[in-house]
Amino acid sequence: MTPDQARSLMHEWVENPSLRGHMEAVAACMNHHARLHAPDEVDAWTVAGLLHDFDYERHPTEAEHPYVGVEHLRGLGVDDAILQAILGHVNTSGVARDTPMSKHLFACDELAGFIVAVARVRPNGFEDLKPKSVKKKLKDKAFAAAVSRDDVRVGMEELGVDPTEHIERCIAAIGEAADRVLPTPGA
Ligand SMILES: [Fe+2]
Ligand SMILES: [Fe+2]
Repeated sequence: MTPDQARSLMHEWVENPSLRGHMEAVAACMNHHARLHAPDEVDAWTVAGLLHDFDYERHPTEAEHPYVGVEHLRGLGVDDAILQAILGHVNTSGVARDTPMSKHLFACDELAGFIVAVARVRPNGFEDLKPKSVKKKLKDKAFAAAVSRDDVRVGMEELGVDPTEHIERCIAAIGEAADRVLPTPGA
């Protein structure tokens, strides 16, 4: 499956612009990290980002997400490595994050959501957004309270990355995709 095909499928299943934007943000991070760590798998990592929550609007319960989506993708013949990564982004699935793709998906998912939340309350959005500001907001428990700080921390620990560097790369990647992440209302 190509990123374009993944995006079409995601649009078919998801109406909510914020949820679409979330998957675009994660896909942008995955694309960026794949270029650095897995240049032969850029499309696969991007597809994992674009589809990791594509069943969430129709099947948001813990019993169904992401299993319904993964079964649909399996039926379409999507690579098992992508399916494993999507299963691994949900802690309760019990599926180990034992590939670089899985680890990166988990380390980008909640963080991307958080970076978008921070950008939304800044006049300049992603522009000049620094890891320091993101880290400061992470300590403010009341801000974007739905984002699991534990998942953000554990994700970076599993990758073994320097948090500042990881956050910086994610900000840059999402900022470059800003048009798809934060679409103008009515567009
Ligand atoms: Fe999810
Ligand atoms: Fe997500």
